Amino acid sequence: MVNVTDSLSHSRGHRKKRDKVKTSVKRALITGITGQDGSFLAELLLAKGYEVHGMVRRASTFNTERLDAIYADPHEHGAKLFLHYGDSSEGAGIRHILEAAQPEEIYNLAAQSHVRVSFDQAEYTANVVATGALRILEAVRDYAARGHAVRLYQAGSSEMFGASPPPQNESTPFYPRSPYGVSKLAAHWYAVNYREAYGLFVANGILFNHESPRRGETFVTRKITRALARIKLGLQDKLYLGNLEARRDWGYAGDYVEAMWRILQQPEAEDFVIATGESHSVREFLERAADYCGVPWQRHVERDSRYFRPTEVDNVCGDASKAREKLGWAPKVKFEELVAMMMEHDLELARQQATLASAGHRVSGRGASQS
Ligand code: NAP
Ligand code: GDD
Repeated sequence: MVNVTDSLSHSRGHRKKRDKVKTSVKRALITGITGQDGSFLAELLLAKGYEVHGMVRRASTFNTERLDAIYADPHEHGAKLFLHYGDSSEGAGIRHILEAAQPEEIYNLAAQSHVRVSFDQAEYTANVVATGALRILEAVRDYAARGHAVRLYQAGSSEMFGASPPPQNESTPFYPRSPYGVSKLAAHWYAVNYREAYGLFVANGILFNHESPRRGETFVTRKITRALARIKLGLQDKLYLGNLEARRDWGYAGDYVEAMWRILQQPEAEDFVIATGESHSVREFLERAADYCGVPWQRHVERDSRYFRPTEVDNVCGDASKAREKLGWAPKVKFEELVAMMMEHDLELARQQATLASAGHRVSGRGASQS
């Protein structure tokens, strides 16, 4: 597990040392570094030779599991990953982190990112997602005014298109359908406004759904692959789902963080749709995953009204032509490969749990009934 203990004061010392020896190493700050995308992006930037700083919120348990593979103790010579405590709901902390890390690139990925949860926690979602982006922009505005050349990536979402019919591109009207979507749209427009008002390099990525074995367990793809694997291994019997007819444009997170980086390498700050251009229903995802592992899903899947949303986004499918032309970006992983990759990962986890269970150990029963 990663230890963030007193990393802020450590980073301050680190900055003093660095100020003496000016290097040409690029520095990036990632908010939301502990999330699915944050962990992939950190890996990508480290592989490109960046010094990576991440904002991590304080939790009573470890929340840095996705970073275990890349973490090195910051006291070690040559460490390139530095974590700082901070929260999108607090501007002062963000300013301290900018001062300590002195990044040239900032990726604002932090969010309460669950759409269904945003209906239950609307005010909190707006505070973190919308006003959180504004806090970063205000901090960046002052940071740039002090002479720092800095570029900011804002993580936008296809949820901002909501009810606008597909295919959706950069010119499609926005029509969000959840407090999360509305908050992301506010963040998007704050970013556009700060770009125009202050000449800041601020770019919005409008990303369609992207998944991976690291996807949070309560998003529908991971909920399905995890539950099917557990059903296959006899660890659970039921999977409770909501709307199976909604359609999503699902890509692979590893491909999408490459697009984020390319967006910040452009000569001008612009907004880009990032998508595969192919959509599938939740039912299709379920069928494909069940076929892969040989589980007769009809016997195990039940519907639960808790997982339906008061207002649903029925159909999204992105047109990423602009990204293809200007960024030279195209997704590499296809839908079938994505399902297989996630199923394989969750089957392996389920096998490990089954081994523990057969040896008499208790294994977690959670999984059948989460958002
Ligand atoms: P995720 O796995 O849910 O990660 C969200 C990150 O934000 C986590 O590191 C989380 O920390 C952090 N966070 C949550 N609340 C915070 C707060 N109050 N202060 C600071 N950090 C906070 O999301 P993701 O899938 O990686 O997505 C990354 C970003 O892209 C999000 O902004 C999301 O809304 C957006 N997006 C995602 C997709 C997608 O399909 N994945 C598509 C479009 C846009 P903890 O680890 O402590 O929870
Ligand atoms: N989570 C969940 N749980 N979704 C379910 C379930 C269930 O049990 N049953 C059906 N669904 C349907 C939802 O109603 C939705 O139509 C679809 O599955 C996808 O839901 P999620 O996987 O929760 O993702 P999302 O599309 O709402 O939001 C994700 O993608 C956005 C990009 O468009 C999140 O990652 C957002 O943060 C992101 O912006």
